[in-house]
Amino acid sequence: MKILYAKDADTLSRYAADRFVEQIKSNPKSILGLATGSTPKKMYEYLGEDTHVGKVSFSEATSFNLDEYVGLAADHPASYHYFMEEYFFSKVDFKEGANSLPNGVAENLEKEALDYDQRIQDVGELDILILGIGSNAHIGFNEPDDVFEPLTHVVALDHSTRQDNARFFNSIDEVPTHAISLGMRAIMRAKKVLLLAFGENKAEAIRDLVKGKVDPKVPASILQLHANATILIDEGAASLLDESDYTSI
Ligand code: GLP
Repeated sequence: MKILYAKDADTLSRYAADRFVEQIKSNPKSILGLATGSTPKKMYEYLGEDTHVGKVSFSEATSFNLDEYVGLAADHPASYHYFMEEYFFSKVDFKEGANSLPNGVAENLEKEALDYDQRIQDVGELDILILGIGSNAHIGFNEPDDVFEPLTHVVALDHSTRQDNARFFNSIDEVPTHAISLGMRAIMRAKKVLLLAFGENKAEAIRDLVKGKVDPKVPASILQLHANATILIDEGAASLLDESDYTSI
């Protein structure tokens, strides 16, 4: 695992965007793994600008998102479908049908999860995957657990996750109790993983990820075993690490 530091989130967002540009340039048909949340927003904004000025094109690429809330249809403003459309898909030039997210309103959610997993297995590995991290160290919606869940699955959200995400809803009661999340197998099979973490409320999760042992109670810690994972942290997220733990960019 490479740990890279910059004081500000913008530098890290630009760095992550550059890795996506590089990836698409080396293979325009790349399969991208995408995340939602406040953290990757700036990276998506940079990629939108890069597309606008002709520096990159997503016209041959496809994407799979990590997760979606159970019970929220694509047109719900707090759904991850909606987020992706608003902050990324509408700003770049993917072809119609190139972007996939789990369907949180599928009639049979268990089947939807397994079908989604199968679709990723059918296309092979994700070429590059962007991750955020929850304050409880979840990645996607792989919540702290006794085991690492390998496949895409329906997950009950932790109370702390629902609290963290209540800011996107009118109240915590409106935050869905469940989600569909990609499992650890697809995450670990991704050829390249970039994890962005900004702000002091991520500092404990980052400390446990970087300095702790691999433990399903700290879901992100599985990335210690990934062959090509880069953790990108700003000043706040790095606040519980020593300077010797990271390299500045
Ligand atoms: C959500 C998402 C994660 C994301 C995390 C952090 O719950 N499922 O993929 O990484 O929260 O979100 P934020 O970037 O808004 O802090």
